[in-house]
Amino acid sequence: MNEGIMSFSSFQDKIMEGAETNDDLASELVSLRPQTMSDYVGQKDTVLTLEIAMAAAKKRSEPLEHILFHGPPGLGKTTLANIIANEMGSNLTVTSGPALEKGGDLVGILTHLAEGDILFIDEIHRLPRPVEEFLYSAMEDFAVDIVFDKGVHARSHRFRLNRFVLIGATTRVGLISAPLRDRFGIFRGLDFYEPADLETIAKRSADLLGLPMNNEGIHTLIGRARGTPRILNRLLKRVRDYAQVKGDGRADRQTVITALELEGIDSIGLTPLDRRYIKTIIDFYSGGPVGIEAIAATLQEEADTLVDVVEPFLLKTGLIIRTSSGRKATSSAYMHLGLKSAALF
Ligand SMILES: Nc1ncnc2c1ncn2[C@@H]1O[C@H](COP(=O)(O)OP(=O)(O)OP(=O)(O)O)[C@@H](O)[C@H]1O
Ligand SMILES: [Mg+2]
Repeated sequence: MNEGIMSFSSFQDKIMEGAETNDDLASELVSLRPQTMSDYVGQKDTVLTLEIAMAAAKKRSEPLEHILFHGPPGLGKTTLANIIANEMGSNLTVTSGPALEKGGDLVGILTHLAEGDILFIDEIHRLPRPVEEFLYSAMEDFAVDIVFDKGVHARSHRFRLNRFVLIGATTRVGLISAPLRDRFGIFRGLDFYEPADLETIAKRSADLLGLPMNNEGIHTLIGRARGTPRILNRLLKRVRDYAQVKGDGRADRQTVITALELEGIDSIGLTPLDRRYIKTIIDFYSGGPVGIEAIAATLQEEADTLVDVVEPFLLKTGLIIRTSSGRKATSSAYMHLGLKSAALF
């Protein structure tokens, strides 16, 4: 995603869709991001698996196995990597697939890791293939083979590495190659959060932000948060701004509705981009099926953004379906937009 050339409205769409922004990394997440497992809400099975794995590793004084987290943006993959490093008392080195352009970039990082250090690679599905190949032996044998010279003079030298722990995160698990996937001992998908978990997160975040909210306010907010903590926290900040500037500093149901309407968020949490996506399928492609590239071209958005950020929630809520011949809008989508479905006639 190239934010440099993104139009303002499309940038705003992306913010509301839950993509990570600098704002996140600065003020907001520092205070709202849970630091310990006990503050990490929901994802019970994943948390239990990790707690057992961490306790076992500590008991045996061994590093953890390599871990892969997958799932839509904003569900807490990076947060978990941070918590694991905290709880294991390990150093954490953070990088991402696209940042590692050459094998040497990765080897440089790997050779600096100490025993038990954690390397977090975000967007690991975007690692260039030659870089990924260095990871295979690094993960399995804690060694990297470097080839010097070319052709008949080529010689290979094996560098031993300390036993590090790789934590990978990806929004696109289908793009992870089998050899890479098979080298992770722990492989967990994060799913959208249930309302009860979102409620806990909303109350915690509202407290941390100093925003008094009543129950109706909380429920209205979590109904618009698309099952995603990052979106929940971001909407909460917009509500806080609105409540402090236009109201008495508290947030009830009406404050939440009005504040979020200003952001273009509708009653089920769809953003302007979500609605444009659905309307494109309906208006330009008679409800589908239509391929993602065609939708992306009509919307002038990147297909990857649509697949990573827009589609997971629309699929989850049954507003669209994916068939072998493309995406289709369902009758719920027509109903939600107040349109008549061609299928009804
Ligand atoms: N289980 C949770 N409990 C409380 N807050 C959470 C939880 N998971 C995530 N959050 C909040 O949501 C924010 C986004 O989470 P995080 O950055 O870990 O998402 P991510 O899955 O890494 O997303 P991306 O794929 O975009 O990198 C966090 O900063 C935190 O405030
Ligand atoms: Mg992340």
